[in-house]
Amino acid sequence: MSWQRYCATAEDTIVAGEAFSAVLSSGDIVLLTGTLGAGKTTFVKGVAKGLGVHERVTSPTFTMVREHRCANGLGIETLHHCDVYRVESLDEVVDLALGELVEDGAVALVEWGELAASVFGRDVMTIDFHVEDNDGRMLSVDGELAAARAARLDEWAS
Ligand SMILES: Nc1ncnc2c1ncn2[C@@H]1O[C@H](COP(=O)(O)OP(=O)(O)O)[C@@H](O)[C@H]1O
Ligand SMILES: [Mg+2]
Repeated sequence: MSWQRYCATAEDTIVAGEAFSAVLSSGDIVLLTGTLGAGKTTFVKGVAKGLGVHERVTSPTFTMVREHRCANGLGIETLHHCDVYRVESLDEVVDLALGELVEDGAVALVEWGELAASVFGRDVMTIDFHVEDNDGRMLSVDGELAAARAARLDEWAS
């Protein structure tokens, strides 16, 4: 099963990210896939807004992972924002130990995550960003974890 949401502008993608924060539960790992410039970081800025992150969210391309404190009523205290674009081997992703990091009151959003899907050792959700004509982006959510969040995703996609 998969859920889609069309975002005509970058602002729409931020709003979609903000709304997506309500889909998340503590411990969730979300992989973001799509070409460079597809809108993955833009979406994370929206999720951060929804989770009550006050600092600015920028691409973690060179640092691989950034940790943001959150303030919300969702029981999510930390947002890990990762970008594994520059990772050369899966061992480097394993070294990030994200599966362990997210266990306690945290969620992780991983850009270019398809590279990393196999290392988490638990169910994940994937959001694919597809660039359409006229700058629009079609977001498609699926994965085992998405199925477990079906009711919230129905709301998000409607
Ligand atoms: N509908 C849209 N959704 C997201 N970004 C868009 C959209 N239309 C134009 N853009 C632009 O595309 C770029 C997306 O960049 P970014 O979010 O960093 O992509 P990625 O992290 O996937 O490489 C931004 O400059 C943004 O303003
Ligand atoms: Mg990015």
